[in-house]
Amino acid sequence: MGTLIKSPLSKLPFSIITISICAFAFIALLYTERISFLSSTTIFTLSPCAKRSLAKPKDKSADNDEVNYFADDRFEFDPNECSVTSGKWRFNSSIEPLYTDRSCPYLDRQVSCVKNGRPDSDYRHWEWQPDDCYLPRFDPKIALEKLRGKRLMFVGDSLQRGQWQSFVCLVEFIIPADQKSMRRGRVHSTFRAKEYNATIEFYWAPFLVESNSDLKIVGDPKQRILKVDSVTKHAKQWLGVDILVFNTYVWWMSGLKIKSLWGSFANGENGYEELDASVSYRIGLKTWANWVDTTIDTNKTRVFFTTMSPTHQRSADWNNKGGIKCYNETKPVMKKRHWGTGSDKRIMKVVADVVGKMKVPVSLINITQLSEYRIDAHASVYTETGGKLLTDEQKADPLHNADCIHWCLPGVPDTWNQIFFAHL
Ligand SMILES: *[C@@H]1O[C@H](CO)[C@@H](O)[C@H](O)[C@H]1NC(C)=O
Ligand SMILES: *[C@@H]1O[C@H](CO)[C@@H](O)[C@H](O)[C@H]1NC(C)=O
Ligand SMILES: *[C@@H]1O[C@H](CO)[C@@H](O)[C@H](O)[C@H]1NC(C)=O
Ligand SMILES: *[C@@H]1O[C@H](CO)[C@@H](O)[C@H](O)[C@H]1NC(C)=O
Ligand SMILES: *[C@@H]1O[C@H](CO)[C@@H](O)[C@H](O)[C@H]1NC(C)=O
Repeated sequence: MGTLIKSPLSKLPFSIITISICAFAFIALLYTERISFLSSTTIFTLSPCAKRSLAKPKDKSADNDEVNYFADDRFEFDPNECSVTSGKWRFNSSIEPLYTDRSCPYLDRQVSCVKNGRPDSDYRHWEWQPDDCYLPRFDPKIALEKLRGKRLMFVGDSLQRGQWQSFVCLVEFIIPADQKSMRRGRVHSTFRAKEYNATIEFYWAPFLVESNSDLKIVGDPKQRILKVDSVTKHAKQWLGVDILVFNTYVWWMSGLKIKSLWGSFANGENGYEELDASVSYRIGLKTWANWVDTTIDTNKTRVFFTTMSPTHQRSADWNNKGGIKCYNETKPVMKKRHWGTGSDKRIMKVVADVVGKMKVPVSLINITQLSEYRIDAHASVYTETGGKLLTDEQKADPLHNADCIHWCLPGVPDTWNQIFFAHL
């Protein structure tokens, strides 16, 4: 089976294989988005965690000031103390996700893997364990209390939409039916928790900056033009939000140069320049950073940025020579610091550079490394295309149809939110 599938490709130069696989992935991704407002999000974060030694149960002498100091310090986030990026996935069969794709009514079919027929379940029982600290479990009551009277908005692409849906599902089940509501829109969706006077929103802006492919997706990446110096049309909708969580990555990674437009050109969209993705990304991200720095009142608004969500399109990255992308993978990569071709180091550096120079403090949710290990957790063939579940025939052709970009829910984005929660 492996050789059968490999043979037609093995004669092609590697770059062609990569590009065509990227193109498949992209077309599949975009097609899905047109139907269900895809947003892809990546999150790189320094994880908020407390030192493991501080997480010990309070002892009987807890009324002693010093002990109280440590006890209270338990969940305090200190990025200098503990990085969530370094750690390991630990299997624990008694861990159950807080929701399922049947219990939570707000999940898109795109990510509802169990409903869509995924037979294996181990991927739901791994827990991220940072090396230097204890990552608190997600607590829906505490999370909602922190959001009381506030607006939380996730902004970005379909991966960010996955994180938003994960967050909604992680809290919604403790709210009575008449105390919550969901309004889905093509660009802007709002989940409302009435008794908390809180909203958990999603805003679709796959590049953060404006493009000709925001509202009406342009399927052919060659036809997309990015206005790398324009963000205000989207950003108007971000005003007044208390907690903003941004991402942008996968849409820049078509493998082509990015048609980038800035300034005003008399000849309209023909004034673009074709730039390498990382160069264009830098300009676009700086535009976003300038908006944040000049607009955000740090007394009112907190800003987060989720780093790249890795894609797993190339099984050779994890030495599975006969594999087809992430198809049929059921275990995480265990090799420490594994890094594949689906996470672009240049983009990571741009994020570090740009965010590092901002005036407004932005908390990075650095999810890239921990997600890199999870080749087993993508939607794969248990997803939809064009609004319909994959047929058996399509499932039998994972090279073209497996989605190794988006993640099953419940799944890895719940861990991103666990980290985000620890920062809140
Ligand atoms: C596995 O998870 C359960 C339930 O959360 C927990 O009580 C137990 O301590 C965990 N086991 C290990 C080995 O961490
Ligand atoms: C509800 O929250 C909004 C901000 O999201 C705030 O402006 C408003 O005053 C709050 N209402 C109540 C009754 O607390
Ligand atoms: C933020 O709050 C601090 C302390 O309350 C105050 O000194 C500062 O002027 C405020 N900044 C803005 C931009 O309102
Ligand atoms: C995928 O897994 C299924 C079930 O374990 C197996 O029957 C099938 O041969 C595998 N396919 C490939 C291409 O490895
Ligand atoms: C995220 O973490 C990785 C290590 O896992 C690091 O290489 C990278 O620089 C971090 N990204 C940012 C933007 O800080």
